[in-house]
Amino acid sequence: MKIVKTISELRAELLPFKMAGKSIGLVPTMGALHEGHASLIDASARENDVTVVSVFVNPIQFGKTEDLDKYPRRLAKDAELGAAHGASFVFAPEVAEMYPDGDPLTLVRDESLEGLYCGAYRPGHFRGVLTVVSKLFLISGANKAYFGKKDYQQAFLIRRMVKDLNFDIEIRVMPIIREQTGLARSSRNEYMSDKEREAAISISTGLKEAKAAYDAGLNKVQPLRDMVVKQIIASGGQVQFVEIANMNTLLALQGGVINKEEGAVILVAAFFGKTRLIDNIEL
Ligand code: PAJ
Repeated sequence: MKIVKTISELRAELLPFKMAGKSIGLVPTMGALHEGHASLIDASARENDVTVVSVFVNPIQFGKTEDLDKYPRRLAKDAELGAAHGASFVFAPEVAEMYPDGDPLTLVRDESLEGLYCGAYRPGHFRGVLTVVSKLFLISGANKAYFGKKDYQQAFLIRRMVKDLNFDIEIRVMPIIREQTGLARSSRNEYMSDKEREAAISISTGLKEAKAAYDAGLNKVQPLRDMVVKQIIASGGQVQFVEIANMNTLLALQGGVINKEEGAVILVAAFFGKTRLIDNIEL
């Protein structure tokens, strides 16, 4: 496993593999790697000859009041975890390598969903994500890229971007990895006190309860939504949003009932203390 800091070095390293017809898998991350990231690296290593894990805390996807400065950074440990799961390269560029002229003038954004759900509370977030992910696709020339279902809207928008812009890459979206308690693994979990972490289990408890109710025949949006909201509030958490969306369009189902054929997903964002967590479950 090799740590690579520059774009030109990564391209030079990957060229011989491409010439030899080897497949390249890319796992984009912001580091502070945990078992969720590890599952993506495992999948890439299984399905490709070479796996590149990018570790880059992308400043243009953070709002001014967000946690860019305190986001955990520990490259040596990340590289170890990457190697243990079969990564061949860790691409860890500095901000000046990715954005040599400051913030980019050219941005990739979607025109319709970037203002919904997470995007409504994090203006500019998704265009920052889509822009950096496009750059990583172009820099690596990977055949496949791996994302987690945990960031449901992000994975949806990336899939759509690849389709809309004809990126020659296959997007693989992998299941959410959770702690035994049900809490979805996240680099931001470490911001929380033990008490907050305990309370945050309520998100997955609420989601599981709603799914069980749906499976038992309850198909109305409002009561299912309320189950999740209630659990979070009872634990002392603060709900930012709980929405039920059509799985294929990601548009919110306002009131009404869930159509079994189309499929739906419950999307959640909530605060525990100052820590903002997201989670979801497909129905
Ligand atoms: P980051 O939050 O580091 O996540 C990197 C990838 O790991 C994402 O695809 C995310 O969905 C996945 N992931 C995180 N927690 C997971 C879990 N518990 N189970 C399964 N997968 C999980 O998402 C980003 O970074 C950035 O926005 C990025 C795409 C790298 C662009 O900067």
